Amino acid sequence: MSTDVERFRKWSDAAPNEDYNPQPEDVQWMKQVTGIQDEEELKNHALKIQAEGLVVYPYPCIKKFAFTTSRVGRHPAYQDVLAIGKNRPGAIYLEAACCFGNDVRKVVSDGYPIENVIATDLKGDFWTIGQKFFRTTPETFPVPFLLGDAFDASFISPDTPPAPTSSTPPIRDVPSLKTLTSLTPLQHHVSIIHAAAFFHLFNEEPQRRLAFLLGSLLSPSPGSMIIGSHGGAPDTEENKKGATRFIGVSESLFTHSPTSWRNLWIGEGGVFKEGDVKVWAEAKVLPRPPSQPTLTDSSGLPVERCVMTWSVIRI
Ligand SMILES: C[S@@+](CC[C@H](N)C(=O)[O-])C[C@H]1O[C@@H](n2cnc3c(N)ncnc32)[C@H](O)[C@@H]1O
Repeated sequence: MSTDVERFRKWSDAAPNEDYNPQPEDVQWMKQVTGIQDEEELKNHALKIQAEGLVVYPYPCIKKFAFTTSRVGRHPAYQDVLAIGKNRPGAIYLEAACCFGNDVRKVVSDGYPIENVIATDLKGDFWTIGQKFFRTTPETFPVPFLLGDAFDASFISPDTPPAPTSSTPPIRDVPSLKTLTSLTPLQHHVSIIHAAAFFHLFNEEPQRRLAFLLGSLLSPSPGSMIIGSHGGAPDTEENKKGATRFIGVSESLFTHSPTSWRNLWIGEGGVFKEGDVKVWAEAKVLPRPPSQPTLTDSSGLPVERCVMTWSVIRI
């Protein structure tokens, strides 16, 4: 999928660095997980790590210091995530496109059993930089990291379709997370998949493929969920099928609206059959910081900055 990612780079490169301005609860959390108590030292540490991350790839989320907070912790389904970790023995949590690994650190710091957590990303350097930021090693933070391209057929097999919802667990045994070299053995075995700022990197068709691939990993047990957040389009009549946003002379991004997102996951042609899952999605228009590049629609008119938070939960 490198072409889509390359398309994205131009926009990403143009997004200016934002100021380091964490919320008080994020400062507390960073102190807890990094062990750094001095706030000036913490800031300098974050700036240094940000610079290293931007060399690997200049994602806007790194420019915005997304690694100093957690998206999963702010997701409306977060308490259910923690409850599954506590109450469902062996329930696997997968962080898709984990980047520095801040979200897996959040679930583990809130009590999700570490032995059931796994993270994956296209770029191993991000995970290494995350170990540096959180001042851990593979021994002190033993969550397995799997390097891979989510679209690579040898990483997630496209031949296994998403399972229908069922209370009967799959018979196949799950190998130890530490021994995995691809996600294929986890198909139909993952209880929670969190994917933040991931889908919006791709165009409409690869987003659809990604939804099927992540869907194929999901456990059939009721309550299993795929959750996340990313750039979206407000749920207007004209955005029913999603929206294409032009971000430069020849660059465009496809964004789903809550309606098109639901239709991607459920019903005819969707990832899951009607009645197997409930899909919730909410698109919120946010004020655009003056430093951010303006997105325009097909007529060249500015469009709002809009974040869609969503969940797909087995019934
Ligand atoms: C915008 S960052 C989001 C990171 C993090 N989830 C967050 O919310 O801050 C996108 C992440 O997707 C990863 N990525 C891009 N293409 C990928 C692919 N084809 N397979 C797996 N990961 C991919 C990137 O390496 C990067 O870490």
